[in-house]
Amino acid sequence: MGDPLGGRTAAVLGFGHQGAAQALNLRDAGARVLVGAREGGAAEARARAAGFETVGLAAAARAASMVAVLLPDEAVPAVWPAVAPAIDAGACVVFAHGFNLLYAELEFGPRQDVVLVAPTAPGRVLRDTVAAGGRLPAYVAVHRDGSGGALRAAQAWAAGIGCAPLWPTTVREETEVDLFGEQVVLCGGLQSLVTSAFETLVAAGYSPEIAYLEVAHQLRYLAEALHARGPAGLRQGISGTALYGDLTRGPRVIGTASRAAMGEILAEIQSGAFAREWRAEVAAGAPRLAALRARAAAHPIEEARRRALGEGGAPLPEDAPRPHPPGSPPAEPAESG
Ligand SMILES: NC(=O)c1ccc[n+]([C@@H]2O[C@H](COP(=O)([O-])OP(=O)(O)OC[C@H]3O[C@@H](n4cnc5c(N)ncnc54)[C@H](OP(=O)(O)O)[C@@H]3O)[C@@H](O)[C@H]2O)c1
Repeated sequence: MGDPLGGRTAAVLGFGHQGAAQALNLRDAGARVLVGAREGGAAEARARAAGFETVGLAAAARAASMVAVLLPDEAVPAVWPAVAPAIDAGACVVFAHGFNLLYAELEFGPRQDVVLVAPTAPGRVLRDTVAAGGRLPAYVAVHRDGSGGALRAAQAWAAGIGCAPLWPTTVREETEVDLFGEQVVLCGGLQSLVTSAFETLVAAGYSPEIAYLEVAHQLRYLAEALHARGPAGLRQGISGTALYGDLTRGPRVIGTASRAAMGEILAEIQSGAFAREWRAEVAAGAPRLAALRARAAAHPIEEARRRALGEGGAPLPEDAPRPHPPGSPPAEPAESG
């Protein structure tokens, strides 16, 4: 089997969602991979159990000529002063999301390549797709081209982790669009839509269990159809009544006020205001996040779910994204992304 990295040793810093998937895929593709993990941590044990040699973050960085920073974004600024001096002057540093490249003032050497290779799915999906012989699209960008060959290095990394086709982008575009997508649709918008619809039905006297099944549980089937067939394909698979309601009522739900909010949210991302707010929250130990999370977890929709699906609820689908903010229990990379 060929080595996708052309003999360069890869250090994967972090063995979480992306770290585990990328390390496993690279190894399967024939690359030499070392995992950087903190001593005694869950990631170290998982990486060793998967057969990887593990050392500390700086030691792994020192031993490699391609260094992938696959730690939680909020952890990177704090560890960077210890990791950066260990990275070889001619190494290529790979990030999977541009947040810290755009907003944190990470320092790099003048001859180092710094690239973005962002797979378009959670780590678990990347691993499963590639293990089944498939490929996953990724975004690729060059942040710094110290060697003159940064794009080739990024492409080699992307190929090694099993990504294709590769969509050229910039760090700014990937970061801003990723934040906008998760805030407005994939996480924030979706959760608010579901919760508001649930509250509306329950306030009008409908059963919480039926409300849950209708506005949350069935989402999966529609999301899968959208994923597989696109908006027009999804519309082909619903009844005429549902289609008429979709096209006449949908724009009222997401109307002028929501579009204005989207514009404001995008402006906060573009100005860096969101990043400053989030970094200040992390620096303070994330108290607001913990309080908001606790309040959301206590919402009656959770009890409605348990009751609607039977005691304990249905198991999450294996690829369900699961948030893993600071202070949350260690994430299981085998299950989510
Ligand atoms: N989630 C996804 O699938 C996904 C998709 C696309 C891009 N990305 C990007 O990929 C990068 C990694 O995200 P992720 O979701 O894979 O991260 P994650 O699963 O939360 O990563 C956790 C890993 O980081 C380690 N870690 C956390 N804090 C650390 C610290 N202070 N020092 C040393 N190790 C530490 C953990 O080790 P311990 O077990 O020792 O705590 C664990 O190995 C991010 O840039 C993210 O934006 C992620």
